[in-house]
Amino acid sequence: MEKTFFMIKPDGVERGLVGDVLKRIERRGFRLEKLEMRQIDRASLEKHYADLVDRPFFLGIAEFMMSAPVVMGVIAGPGVVASWRDMLGATNPAEAAPGTIRGDFATAPTGSIIPNIAHGSDSLESAQREIAIWFPEMN
Ligand code: CDP
Ligand code: MG
Repeated sequence: MEKTFFMIKPDGVERGLVGDVLKRIERRGFRLEKLEMRQIDRASLEKHYADLVDRPFFLGIAEFMMSAPVVMGVIAGPGVVASWRDMLGATNPAEAAPGTIRGDFATAPTGSIIPNIAHGSDSLESAQREIAIWFPEMN
């Protein structure tokens, strides 16, 4: 069964949206295979965002992602990688469609893109790579 990696970012946890996000996962019929609350470390985050570490905004992302615990996990289901991305909505909360997680919850009054509630792997390859980083025991 196809799997993907998700994270509820520090803003989602601090705003009490863990239940809302997990509800959407379960309502959609995806199976939770891993679920864990964790304070993330920089080395793993740099591996996770390997394509972003050289960007000027990475420092802000790293500071935000390590500012408080996240809830991370693995979900499984047919087409789950693309479906979960659809459920998240656009990266920039200002552009995320209503009905999506980011569109419904990530109103960013500051205009910042960084706090956008949740993460999802962007391809099958990314999903496998990210699951191996955060849950190495699953391989
Ligand atoms: O999370 P997603 O895959 O939609 O976007 P990404 O391009 O992989 O970027 C990862 C995260 O970095 C985003 O979710 C934002 O939190 C942040 N980001 C940002 O703050 N500014 C950007 N221009 C792009 C990404
Ligand atoms: Mg991404």
